[in-house]
Amino acid sequence: MHRLAPVRGDRRCRTATGWKRKAPRHDGGIGPRNPGWYADRGHRRGAAQGIGAATLRAYVAAGADVAALDVNAEAGSAAAGAAHAAGPGTARFLRCDVGSRASVEDAFGTVADDFDGRLDVMKGTVYTNQSAFRLMRAHGGSIVNFTSGAALKPYPRGAHYSAAKAAVAAWTRTVAREWGRYDIRANSVAPAMRTPMFEAYLARLSPAGLESLRTRHREQIALGGQLGNPETDLAPVMVFLAGPGSRFITGQIIPVNGGMESVR
Ligand SMILES: NC(=O)c1ccc[n+]([C@@H]2O[C@H](COP(=O)([O-])OP(=O)(O)OC[C@H]3O[C@@H](n4cnc5c(N)ncnc54)[C@H](O)[C@@H]3O)[C@@H](O)[C@H]2O)c1
Repeated sequence: MHRLAPVRGDRRCRTATGWKRKAPRHDGGIGPRNPGWYADRGHRRGAAQGIGAATLRAYVAAGADVAALDVNAEAGSAAAGAAHAAGPGTARFLRCDVGSRASVEDAFGTVADDFDGRLDVMKGTVYTNQSAFRLMRAHGGSIVNFTSGAALKPYPRGAHYSAAKAAVAAWTRTVAREWGRYDIRANSVAPAMRTPMFEAYLARLSPAGLESLRTRHREQIALGGQLGNPETDLAPVMVFLAGPGSRFITGQIIPVNGGMESVR
């Protein structure tokens, strides 16, 4: 399939004053400096912290040119600046509220201009998926959405979250079926990671609640008894889902949770 051939040709990188041309980097195969088609351009959201920030760093480290979207402009531009400085790929930050269709369309308009209308990898849900589809249908691509273990089991005191995350998984499997004809894959990841979101949740627990959660994690997380590290436990899966190794995987929920929940 033509999409799986490494991309050849000039690349652009962002400088303080804009984008500039770089020498061609892809010359075949997959590797940190030779990442193949998937890593040539990327786009994702929620990049300021947690899973988003870890994925941003992993994609840029794999050689991707990434547009990082987040509603938090200060933390988002700091994360994109650090990833860009580390290279070898590039990163730029765009402020975007993924709950606003206008904000998403605005950001994707900029992405389309910057990436010459081509987008290979996308993480986010409805508005962002729809905007990504418009850019991906000519060349194919990979969409990675975020569901949760809360969508797979009862989640007391979190019914809305559980329902919303089940909707993400349902949306993803349906668009995977509809958009497969355009060589667009769509999967959802169900993570269990220590991120600022999780730390904020811990801070709201009573000492007894905290102890009970730790006990549950020790009993249920087969690998290590605690939540994972987004840098080492999730970011490599994100790179895999972006790349040709996952070319025959679509419509799936991928649990990355140390064995806490299983998809039946
Ligand atoms: N951490 C986990 O174990 C876990 C478990 C299940 C699901 N998830 C899902 O994974 C995703 C990332 O989780 P995380 O733990 O990294 O969360 P986090 O709260 O640490 O980070 C979320 C990021 O999204 C940004 N954001 C929030 N609202 C936004 C909006 N409207 N527009 C643009 N950006 C916005 C925030 O500024 C932040 O940078 C979430 O969808 C979460 O529900 C995480």
